[in-house]
Amino acid sequence: MGILEVKGVGKRFGGLQALGDVNLSVQVNTVHAIIGPNGAGKSTLLNCLVGKLIPDTGSVTFDGKSVLGRKPHEINQMGISRVFQTPEIFGDLTVMENVLIPCFAKRDGAFRMHAYESIEQEPDIVNKAEQMLIDVNMIEKRHMTGSSLSRGDKRRLEMAMCLAQDPRLLLLDEPTAGMARADTNNTIDLLKQIKEERDITMAIIEHDMHVVFSLADRITVLAQGTPLVEDTPDNIKGHPKVKEAYLGETQEV
Ligand SMILES: Nc1ncnc2c1ncn2[C@@H]1O[C@H](COP(=O)(O)OP(=O)(O)OP(=O)(O)O)[C@@H](O)[C@H]1O
Ligand SMILES: [Mg+2]
Repeated sequence: MGILEVKGVGKRFGGLQALGDVNLSVQVNTVHAIIGPNGAGKSTLLNCLVGKLIPDTGSVTFDGKSVLGRKPHEINQMGISRVFQTPEIFGDLTVMENVLIPCFAKRDGAFRMHAYESIEQEPDIVNKAEQMLIDVNMIEKRHMTGSSLSRGDKRRLEMAMCLAQDPRLLLLDEPTAGMARADTNNTIDLLKQIKEERDITMAIIEHDMHVVFSLADRITVLAQGTPLVEDTPDNIKGHPKVKEAYLGETQEV
């Protein structure tokens, strides 16, 4: 049994069946990639895993416990963190202030703005926030505001904010979307490092096959809301069903 079990999940938006009958089992300490063409239902599936959407049918369990019906912050507390398709950071706050938020939230169960006022008396929290920034190679940019960061750095900051919650399952929705090749390669290296250094399971949605084949242990191919095939990267490469799903896209699969 996987740390994350998705069984028979379906979701409709009006007349559109965005997810049909999705079954997925993510094994502990692996990187499981979910790939598929635009509109396949990848983000919808992720939203069902983190409490942003409630599926019409099926079950989702993390560590044997149902996540359905729980609020996003409760799912977060269960040990699931998510990097969104568009980075969600606070543009007016500094890099350090951004990462302090999840550090406080993890310890206190909530974040209160006045926590900053007594920050000198919180060496453990400050040390943790600094360590997260060191881990993602952002410590030198600690005083910059969120809005002034490059796309790649925003992603790294978001990653630090997720890691500060000590997740056991990290969900990543297109972590390299819109990045230049150099930033993409840095992100691959960072995710490999996270995988090696932490007891962490990752489910990653990604369009870029270079990223997928660099990181994934297992791959599920989703098309029109239904998993077509699930296998190892070696077996997925050149698989006829995968080629069919990506018909019309330029990428080699
Ligand atoms: N809130 C919504 N209301 C109505 N339709 C939606 C909603 N969210 C998604 N959809 C539709 O559901 C389908 C699946 O969308 P989803 O965003 O999950 O695809 P995706 O695989 O993440 O695509 P992409 O690769 O472009 O990010 C699409 O046809 C989309 O237009
Ligand atoms: Mg998406």
